[in-house]
Amino acid sequence: MLIALGVTGGIGAYKAVEVARGLQKQGHEVVAIMTSSASRFVGPVTFEAITRRRVISDQWEPGANADIEHIALASTIDLLLVAPATANIIGKLANGIADDFLSTLYTATRAPVLIAPAMNTNMFAHHAVRRNLDTLAANGVRFVEPGEGYLACGWIGRGRLAEPDEIVAAAEAVLRPPGPLRGRKVLVTAGPTYEDLDPVRYVGNRSSGRMGFALAAEAARRGAVVTLIAGPTSLDPPSVHQVVRVRRAAEMHAAVLEQAGDAAVVIMAAAVADYAPEQRVNQKVHKGADTITLVLTRTPDILADLGARRLAAGTGPVLVGFAAETEDVVARAAEKLHRKHADLIVANDVSRGDAGFEVATNAVTLVSRDGVDPLPLETKVRVAAEILDRVERLLAPAEVRA
Ligand code: PMT
Repeated sequence: MLIALGVTGGIGAYKAVEVARGLQKQGHEVVAIMTSSASRFVGPVTFEAITRRRVISDQWEPGANADIEHIALASTIDLLLVAPATANIIGKLANGIADDFLSTLYTATRAPVLIAPAMNTNMFAHHAVRRNLDTLAANGVRFVEPGEGYLACGWIGRGRLAEPDEIVAAAEAVLRPPGPLRGRKVLVTAGPTYEDLDPVRYVGNRSSGRMGFALAAEAARRGAVVTLIAGPTSLDPPSVHQVVRVRRAAEMHAAVLEQAGDAAVVIMAAAVADYAPEQRVNQKVHKGADTITLVLTRTPDILADLGARRLAAGTGPVLVGFAAETEDVVARAAEKLHRKHADLIVANDVSRGDAGFEVATNAVTLVSRDGVDPLPLETKVRVAAEILDRVERLLAPAEVRA
């Protein structure tokens, strides 16, 4: 496969030569892309000798735009690997800055992206760098965690570029993900639904889509073919196989039932409205009476319909639901698990300020027939990984479901 190896200006750049060799030993083709500061640490000639390809270091050099090289490369690579990745390139990629060939390639490609951060310990712990890393993780970027130990700047701590063989192994895992989700269709719902009253007003909720987007990104990271059905959100969804935007619960219901037929897993993280206005008027309702009475009627229960359909058919996708509660969280989640014939309910107390709607963190309890498993407060990116670990176990054949 063709791997674009992005090399940036850190002392670990010399290790990127070993990474290139290691990737070639796995049978891959490597094209090196160097930022201007990278060549202060290792010369382009070294990479040209190893990869036997021209090193791309300046998108303005003659010929680089002949066939709009970054676009051509973006559509042909199987993986973009950035090693070492400095705080600077991490910041540029997280914020969509495209002022050199490497950052432009990142925004142009749909290939999986693997990043090996390397920097001083304090920089790696800095809130701006952590925020950028979380942004990239939420968008489906994979990481090779830096090592602990002696750093080139004389410090002892976390920030040293991972070893070349670890980086090569991580690239292999992305290109040939070993997990049970590889190549399987995973359907995820995210965000709120909006139930319109008139052309101006609607009944909605505070779901930002973060939880569902993190699940979709994590499933894609594990090699799944992800279809994401999302209600209206201000956050952009991660780049996955297919994104379907809906507005009302009825639309989400139709989209989910249409997409679930060939799915191996369905994860209902969306905050679907339980009720919608019985009447939607075509003109704006003008102020007049002191009070207005709204009649709301039940919307279709998507998860319950999926459970009933699987029960009737005797087979179907692994079903994961959520429970947004403010009291008796586990009991209500257990009730939903059985009533909706789900395999797993992810319960969260949405009355907490650091969990549930909108925030970047969540504290969930996983409720299944195997029991109740409370997880500590962590980022929604980590929560998503925990949920998918359990989904992988649920996907395993019953006899090996340890
Ligand atoms: O998007 P964020 O800002 O990150 O917030 C995350 C979240 C709080 C929205 C998420 O963690 C969450 O709790 N999602 C479920 C919200 C919800 O609708 O919970 P519920 O208890 O009302 O519904 C139970 C389950 O049934 C959910 O899986 C829901 O998707 C599903 N449902 C609900 C109503 C309906 N008509 N059809 C459904 O399928």
